[in-house]
Amino acid sequence: MIDFVGLAVILLLALAFGYLTKRAWGAKNKIVKWAGVVLAGLLTLIFAAGFIAAVMGTIQVNANYNASNPAPNVQVKATAEQLAWGEKYAKLCAGCHSPNQQLPLSGNDFAGEAGFGFVGTLYAPNLTPAGDIKNWTDGEVIRAIREGVHQSGRSLIVMPSQEFHALSDEDVQGLVAYLRSQPAVEPNTPPSNLNVLGATLLMAMGGLTHQPAITQPIAKPAVEANAQYGEYLANNLGCRSCHGEKLTGGVGFDGSPAPNLTLAIPQWTEEQFSAAFRTGALPSGVMLDNNKMPYKEFSDFMTDTDMKALYQYLHGLSPTQASK
Ligand code: HEC
Ligand code: HEC
Repeated sequence: MIDFVGLAVILLLALAFGYLTKRAWGAKNKIVKWAGVVLAGLLTLIFAAGFIAAVMGTIQVNANYNASNPAPNVQVKATAEQLAWGEKYAKLCAGCHSPNQQLPLSGNDFAGEAGFGFVGTLYAPNLTPAGDIKNWTDGEVIRAIREGVHQSGRSLIVMPSQEFHALSDEDVQGLVAYLRSQPAVEPNTPPSNLNVLGATLLMAMGGLTHQPAITQPIAKPAVEANAQYGEYLANNLGCRSCHGEKLTGGVGFDGSPAPNLTLAIPQWTEEQFSAAFRTGALPSGVMLDNNKMPYKEFSDFMTDTDMKALYQYLHGLSPTQASK
């Protein structure tokens, strides 16, 4: 993914303005000389800095993590129960990987839809057996999901692997089994290809999402209405992406504040908690906005046991003010 043309254009602009700066320096008219030197000099600096940023962005986008994050050597054999869990969890991928937010995950134009087509091509790829992953090993797909590394070894872009990093071996295998079980929906999506602008912006905004390597087995806690299983759910449903690492408050995807859960939920009854997810109504009577807090998706995902477990975990958190 190297935009040679883009890099060359920025470099040529820097060189051209550098040349003009030199020419202005030699001008006889004092006003022309200083105006020219300041203007062309400034543009030279801007394009030179832009070139350096673009080179650094290109290097990071292409950095290879095969050595630090080798793909696990596993062959998925999922039970019917694992597969069913995988299908349920896969619905949480559909917001990005499907054109209509429904299964199957036939891929969608991520950058174009968000109005970011100018950064190049970035699809949330087709994850049905018509997509590239038909040629990936199970281990490579598992690594992509939990560690954010592409088959080639480069970091994935935008793909929120931090939210899936804590998935147990059992659950991630159920998910991969589900991906493989989908109908093959043509056409395949085009490979990601960012231009210099995309690479530079990504580097600046932290859009490269590779995660630390997973070297130990991750066991799934028993599915019971207790805090231990509730914590597992909170870790794997993206609560921390918006509400903060310690759930003490953060920002949602659209920048709206996501409240401190350690202050609110210890005050709530289990009925109030479950009503918030099942109906969107908070104890105060205020309705949650599903575009900011996707409670309907969580409600569809969670069984009553899941809901009780998540409540047990969040209700038991000690109230903590966010440290700023
Ligand atoms: C916020 C949007 C988003 C969500 C949610 C998301 N993904 Fe992705 N995913 C992406 C994007 C964008 C890429 C392509 C990144 C690239 O090419 O660097 C990607 C890439 C992948 C890949 C690599 C496939 C390939 O052909 O390159 C896999 C596997 C994958 N995602 C699985 C999942 C699964 C499973 C889920 C749900 C558990 C999920 N993703 C949720 C955006 C998302
Ligand atoms: C996409 C970002 C996002 C994710 C993911 C998310 N939340 Fe939220 N949440 C928000 C935002 C934003 C609000 C404020 C919503 C509003 O004002 O309508 C909110 C509100 C809430 C509230 C109401 C709190 C109050 O004091 O009013 C609860 C409870 C809650 N979220 C729990 C959770 C749990 C549990 C999870 C994980 C299962 C989760 N959220 C995942 C963004 C998110």
